Amino acid sequence: MVSLAAIGYPMPVADLLLCQCNAIYEREVLVCIRRGARTVDEVGDECDAGTGCGSCRGAIKTMIEEEQQRKGEHSLPPELLALPLFARNKSPKK
Ligand code: FES
Repeated sequence: MVSLAAIGYPMPVADLLLCQCNAIYEREVLVCIRRGARTVDEVGDECDAGTGCGSCRGAIKTMIEEEQQRKGEHSLPPELLALPLFARNKSPKK
């Protein structure tokens, strides 16, 4: 198991039991997502969350969507960042 801190992310405030069937906590699911799992099945392949009764699959899907949204909020395609609109003003206005 890789910790969030090891891959450059702060630890969540609370670590809730997400998948009761397999005793998987939210933190473990988040690590799977941040390591590249993009679907509920991929998370299940990584850590077994969602592979029992299935009642936690909706929560896992929500976590995936929130993480994708969070990533999207903090990154722009390099082509956009190269536009003058996003260029930093290096000299003060006169
Ligand atoms: S609670 Fe996660 S599969 Fe049952």
